[in-house]
Amino acid sequence: MPRKDHRSPRPTEDVNSVASARRRQLDPLEFIKTNLPIEPVPAIPDIRLHMARPASNLWRLVRQGPGNFDPPSPYWAYLWAGGAALARYFLDHPEMVKGRRVLDLGAGSGIVGIAAAKAGASKVIAADIDPYAALAVDLNAAANGVAVETIVGDIMGGSAPPADIVGIGDLFYEADLAERVLGFLDSCLAAGMTTLIGDPGRTYLPRSRLRLLAEYSVPDFGDVKGAAMSIGCVFMLDPAQVAPSVRNAG
Ligand SMILES: C[S@@+](CC[C@H](N)C(=O)[O-])C[C@H]1O[C@@H](n2cnc3c(N)ncnc32)[C@H](O)[C@@H]1O
Repeated sequence: MPRKDHRSPRPTEDVNSVASARRRQLDPLEFIKTNLPIEPVPAIPDIRLHMARPASNLWRLVRQGPGNFDPPSPYWAYLWAGGAALARYFLDHPEMVKGRRVLDLGAGSGIVGIAAAKAGASKVIAADIDPYAALAVDLNAAANGVAVETIVGDIMGGSAPPADIVGIGDLFYEADLAERVLGFLDSCLAAGMTTLIGDPGRTYLPRSRLRLLAEYSVPDFGDVKGAAMSIGCVFMLDPAQVAPSVRNAG
């Protein structure tokens, strides 16, 4: 029989370490399903999404991170005016997407891709750097009865997956990101793709390159004044204004 070791953990410490091990092992899908209620999106009741509430304790999931990955802010758990406006636009103008392949870049909850699929897109791919976003897209797409493929990672360094339309919901909120997104969209334009942007006028929106298509009153988690609804605009990156470096590239 081993000698009693006075340095071994006391029973209460065992209980605590078991509890913290359990905390580390949250199942992300179960967590989202259980703690982020699924609700119709204000102004877009045709779409239902799992959304975070204060009581969701979302930090518990985000803090654990998937594997060794240090997750970005959980933007996928909230509504953004850009994505909401572009989703509303797809539903109001199914002729834009019907039978076409759509890439939803920076998909978050997947609202843009889900709307495209509901409006009749032949295929939808949602790409996001956040693995939790991909899980949320899976759950949200299933809840809305549509199929959306997901890609986890930053695809802007390479060529775009085969698509006819690129939809961008609310990606012009940081300078570096905005510059990369615009470069990627220019390469998509040069490849003959239609590039649509939903945005409420964030700081780095390249307004001079855009043609306004529509405006909607939509929910916005990112509203700096804390208003529940704000104006989300839908733009097309104007093919007549492809950046010179891209136009000359061939
Ligand atoms: C403000 S949220 C918008 C989400 C969604 N498009 C919408 O409008 O509801 C921005 C999203 O872009 C994602 N993101 C940030 N940088 C990215 C990158 N380089 N490639 C792909 N997604 C990115 C974030 O993880 C986040 O989900």
